[in-house]
Amino acid sequence: MEIGVRTAPEKPVDTAPRKLPALLGFGKYFADKMFRMRWTEELGWHEAEIVPYGPLQLDPAAKVLHYGQEIFEGHKAYRWADGRIALFRPDQNAVRLNRSATRMCMPEIPSDVQLDAVLALVRQCADWVPEDPSTLYIRPTLIGIEPTLGVRAANEYLYYVILSPVGPYFPNGFSPIRVWVEGKYVRAADGGTGAAKTGGNYAGSLFAQSIAKEKGYEQVLWLDAHEHRYVEEIGAMNIAFVIEGKIVTSPLLGSILPGITRDAVLTLARERGDGGLEQRLAIDELIDGIRTGRVTEAFGIGTAAVITPVGALHWEGAEYSIQGGQVGPVAKEYYKTLTDIQFGRQVDRWGWMRHI
Ligand code: PLP
Ligand code: COI
Repeated sequence: MEIGVRTAPEKPVDTAPRKLPALLGFGKYFADKMFRMRWTEELGWHEAEIVPYGPLQLDPAAKVLHYGQEIFEGHKAYRWADGRIALFRPDQNAVRLNRSATRMCMPEIPSDVQLDAVLALVRQCADWVPEDPSTLYIRPTLIGIEPTLGVRAANEYLYYVILSPVGPYFPNGFSPIRVWVEGKYVRAADGGTGAAKTGGNYAGSLFAQSIAKEKGYEQVLWLDAHEHRYVEEIGAMNIAFVIEGKIVTSPLLGSILPGITRDAVLTLARERGDGGLEQRLAIDELIDGIRTGRVTEAFGIGTAAVITPVGALHWEGAEYSIQGGQVGPVAKEYYKTLTDIQFGRQVDRWGWMRHI
């Protein structure tokens, strides 16, 4: 499909980073350009353009503002030591956006169109890609904008991509977080929208997240909606445990987000003989495993979180320390491997990195 945005040529750019605040935090600053494109039933995807970053003009009746017809993606661009800039598995984000689109009754965007849009934008904003260890977070977003109040799918959509130079997602960087295992509230149920990257999943998680925060925990670990027993994922990342030396994570049964970083970690773990198993994990058995030493580590996995060690789990009134609250060797090793691949310090044998 011709969308009118020049496809990024396959040659390295050599654009020095602009001066950015020393403490970037996460998602506080934005590049000065954005990509946008509209969809209507008559024209399909059209009006693709890169424009100055700025507020959107939306009708107050736009469907997204009332019924939450919204999906998004999250991935990153990395500045390599040689000045080149590369994205981690952007093709997979395009595929996942389309899966979310189908679930939320929104029009798909051909993957090559998404990829061209993102590459063209990052190329134009190359000076916004900060130096290692910071990164440029890419946030493609799709919203239903038809201005009518009937509860049905919109017949007009806006896709846009914004960019944010970011530091670590958690203020303390690569250090263990404390996690509240949620026994009452749930994030997603069988047949729900948990596997789609849609804003409502996050809005629905805020209440439990605020309770956890009050109790001194940074994140919530969600359990399945049926039995409140099986581990699903952490607020903004997947979770894995090291059980008798093997990396084990929850299977993709429809209620958790199929993380692209999760998939990379499973691939690496299987290659290295470190497990990479997908198994339902009951919280009572995990707690028992922590007590008896069978479970030695837990860590979150995601784009924003990279690998985030879990130092303590709170469950049913008690706190269980993992690795004495320190970073474990497996989390450390996988954090290093992933970031080495992402920043071009290790050969990318998997074809995961895509240069702009
Ligand atoms: N689970 C949730 C709920 C997330 O928001 C994310 C982040 O995108 C992930 C898992 C990890 O997915 P990915 O590795 O694709 O970033
Ligand atoms: C990501 O890691 O890309 C995420 O989407 C997490 C985000 C919700 C902050």
